[in-house]
Amino acid sequence: MKLLLENIRELVQVEDNPVLFRAGAEMSKVGTIKNAFLIIQDELIDDFGTMDQLKDVYVDDDFLIEIDCSNRIVYPSYCDSHTHLVYPGPREQEFVDKIKGLSYEEIARRGGGILNSAKLLHETSEEELYNSAMKRVKEIIKMGTGAVEIKSGYGLNTKDEIKMLRVIQRIKETAPICVRSTFLGAHSIPFEYRNNVSAYVDLIINEMIPTVASEELADFIDVFCDKGFFSVVDTERILMAGIKYGLRPKIHANELGNTGGVQAGVKYNALSVDHLEFVGEEEIEALKGSETMPTVLPGAAFFLNMKLSPVREMINSGLPVALASDFNPGSSPSGNMNFISSLGCIKYNMLPEEVINATTLNSAYAMGISDRLGSIAKGKMANLFITSDMPGIEYLPYMFGSDLIETVILNGDVQSF
Ligand code: NIG
Ligand code: FE
Repeated sequence: MKLLLENIRELVQVEDNPVLFRAGAEMSKVGTIKNAFLIIQDELIDDFGTMDQLKDVYVDDDFLIEIDCSNRIVYPSYCDSHTHLVYPGPREQEFVDKIKGLSYEEIARRGGGILNSAKLLHETSEEELYNSAMKRVKEIIKMGTGAVEIKSGYGLNTKDEIKMLRVIQRIKETAPICVRSTFLGAHSIPFEYRNNVSAYVDLIINEMIPTVASEELADFIDVFCDKGFFSVVDTERILMAGIKYGLRPKIHANELGNTGGVQAGVKYNALSVDHLEFVGEEEIEALKGSETMPTVLPGAAFFLNMKLSPVREMINSGLPVALASDFNPGSSPSGNMNFISSLGCIKYNMLPEEVINATTLNSAYAMGISDRLGSIAKGKMANLFITSDMPGIEYLPYMFGSDLIETVILNGDVQSF
């Protein structure tokens, strides 16, 4: 099937010679075409150019669907490279505890936080988990996300971790969005192991990882390497075991302290290190020249009132940066990448162009899919969105509370809501 988008005010993040990510000063460059057309053939981007060039490729009656995009802007879908969107229920009571003065770590120490979700997940059926997660998937699709990474990590025992990963697998098979899955057995320390963390690490290594790998349930392995959670020594043991089974690391690092998580991630060639509130010169030096994408989660920092990751320093030092939502019930109960884009500009002083690269191409790289998603390039997946009337690319992050996405196309299909 052929689909034609015509009279596009601006076609954004166009690449003639696609790259896998953009770093440093390159992040402020975004290729765009004004008064453009775009042709989609089946699920792929087939051609694009200016409207005057369209007559050269247009054959009458060739197109089954034509969409007039006058005054509208077309973007590649957001790629959200860090979420925990399979979870058994919200934790709004902890939200109130936080307002009253408790910190995220204090709530976790009292058996709240991730352990609270794990207890509830144990009592929730696979079917219920799937249904509630699919509602969230539909919500983020409507808000412009076309690829998403989803983590396990509210199971914390072999059976429940597998239950979560099966739910993610089912979402992969049934949702129109591209899904990557991550095994995060090391998300928190179960209550019964609190005085014997290495026994829990043994369980992850000897039982969970081999089972996850034999059922081919995960693309990546993650560890919450931070103060009060898993140490660098624990993290390295888990990453080594995962790598043996072909699971590339993507880790939670440096959210609560300068713990060495970033360096451990780089040492084991992690695809990304995520959070990064506590990053200084040493971490930046470690990341330079590596294949690891520094990924910042503005929603969590906003929701928990945390100190901000030094994004400007990282970009000015020549590093790439990706932004993701961290959609989860405890620290970022939103998967709205439009809001993440606004936070990127407002809180982290990123230019709108830098934010576009961070939420599309670089975040696609952080899921290992930037060769087929994350930009408008011939042969890439036709996952994109069309805005409502809009003057230019600055407008989307500027209008931080508005819903400006009018049409979503995934795998070449116009989505209906
Ligand atoms: O990325 N930092 C660790 N994990 C999640 C929080 C998960 C939760 O609180 O349920 C995060 O912020
Ligand atoms: Fe997270």
